[in-house]
Amino acid sequence: MKKIISTTIGIMMLAASAFAQSGVDVQHLGATNTYVRVTGEGKYLLLPVQESNDDAQLNILLNGKLERTIYVRLAKTKVDYYVPLDLSPYAGNEVLLDVISAQGRSSVRDAKEDVCWKNMRLSDDFDTTNREKYRPLFHHTPEWGWMNDPNGMFYKDGVWHLCYQWNPYGSRWQNMTWGHSSSRDLVHWEHHEAAIEPDGLGTVYSGSAAVDPNEGGKVWSMYTAANLSQKQCIAWSYDNGETFSKYPGNPVLTLESEARDPNMFWDESAGLWVLLLAHAQEREMLIFTSPDMKEWTLQSSFGKGIGAQGGVWECPDFFELPVDGSDESKWVLICNINPGGPLGGSATQYFIGDFDGKTFAADTDADGSIPTKWLDYGKDHYAAVSWSNAPDKRRVLIAWMSNWQYGAEVPTQQYRSANSLPREIGLFRADDGRIYASCTPSPEVLALRDELVCNKSFNASQRARKFGLPTANDGICEILLECDPRNTGKLNIELRNSKGEKVLISYDATERTYSFDRRESGLTDFSQDFPIVSVAPAYNDGKTNSIRLFIDRSSIEMFCDEGRSAMTNLVFPTEPYSSISVSTEGGNARIKKLQIYSLNANQ
Ligand code: FRU
Repeated sequence: MKKIISTTIGIMMLAASAFAQSGVDVQHLGATNTYVRVTGEGKYLLLPVQESNDDAQLNILLNGKLERTIYVRLAKTKVDYYVPLDLSPYAGNEVLLDVISAQGRSSVRDAKEDVCWKNMRLSDDFDTTNREKYRPLFHHTPEWGWMNDPNGMFYKDGVWHLCYQWNPYGSRWQNMTWGHSSSRDLVHWEHHEAAIEPDGLGTVYSGSAAVDPNEGGKVWSMYTAANLSQKQCIAWSYDNGETFSKYPGNPVLTLESEARDPNMFWDESAGLWVLLLAHAQEREMLIFTSPDMKEWTLQSSFGKGIGAQGGVWECPDFFELPVDGSDESKWVLICNINPGGPLGGSATQYFIGDFDGKTFAADTDADGSIPTKWLDYGKDHYAAVSWSNAPDKRRVLIAWMSNWQYGAEVPTQQYRSANSLPREIGLFRADDGRIYASCTPSPEVLALRDELVCNKSFNASQRARKFGLPTANDGICEILLECDPRNTGKLNIELRNSKGEKVLISYDATERTYSFDRRESGLTDFSQDFPIVSVAPAYNDGKTNSIRLFIDRSSIEMFCDEGRSAMTNLVFPTEPYSSISVSTEGGNARIKKLQIYSLNANQ
């Protein structure tokens, strides 16, 4: 008897809903409001996405109570891909999605046509197999969805933890959550469950993490909860970042204006936590201290009217390093800025100076001015911050390898954006008397070297010398070039494929600059801001210069003169670059070394 009743109810419900899927019941309530009730079994509800559509608001109701709200670009006319809504935490509850569709439907009839309704389905699996030709081999990417800033990075028990700004529900910025990956060698990454998810205080913006100085098993994190306002919150983990407990008294720090991306560390000598907070629109970094992470005292601010001021100041980092070849040590204050980078859009500027536990005083030039310095002169290096608690006094930094100008337009879909290679930061004094930061790829990347496919020395002249690149593995390789520029004006290095797509890298020995031209590098027309020539100053002795390149499907990172100049640029060749040619403009140069290694991450 019971069975028959439930079947009858089932049939009635089916009749009431226009596009019932097995286990997913859809009821249209108006032009922009639809109920999606989960009636069947499955770990995930797969949500169909159409990227060009606007966000729909999905209020997730458990037994009628609002659990959380997410925003998804539900498909209107075609399904680009699916994103998973994990239902397992809701087991045993009635799950109802109250969907408020994006505007644009004039009637219920219109709304019913949207293809999302008939394509929502329950599944025990979500397929994360890579579908992307441009997904890098040894750079970190999210398994799916949008990623921007690296967050809350800490090293503990031999493992490098990397959290990141993540949208688990689409490959454009939204629903900010801390994704979490970890690695033992900085090149092979394992994905974990999300570390910190949004709550009633807001979505989870960027922040930092640190191992507790007194309780080694505890990892603190500090992040910005963002909705209409931005508030600083804390959380802690006793399982190496697998799960975080949020402090019930959050937020611990509020201001009356936009402030975000808390970067904190333990100051051993003062016995206090020090916090740098980006006062974004005021374009300054605020410095606070606290004995316990909860009570914060403003000590000073740095930056008003200083350095590049063309955009908001975001994602600070702050650390002390020795200056190469001296007994001196200096503080580095990293200040990511967007827009207002040297090539427009996002970039990482930094200041060198001294810190007394409360105030940062930047080094000045002889005329009293504070110079603007850039950590990387490419166009795709942003939100760069470093790991806390790294071993052997290393300062290892990683960036989001993209730019807010076109991050959401790059030609990938399953995931969007990778991180840069991890880099070791050092300090050196240049001929101009200033101290600068250098960045070299972390030595762990050496383990990627597979075969030495080219090892030459020769004289370079105006007639180009051409060598093959290892195409077997999509052209993924490392190139090392050491040059004595002799009497040449310019050294040119061209990477090219059979379609004529090319990247031109030059060293101008007269101007003492490096340049990187990606105007004809492959797909470039997805954004007018993409085709550019980036230029970096060179810091070498004029007698020898060196260029080290890492090519990983859709990025080229260039480290010159032991990392004294760096440029990180995305490229989207329609097929891998298959040759490298070396030539000069005027005069001859001696190429003391040209080495090409194929790289392989399966080792
Ligand atoms: C920088 C940034 C941060 C913010 C985050 C939000 O790229 O704008 O200031 O916390 O992204 O995703």
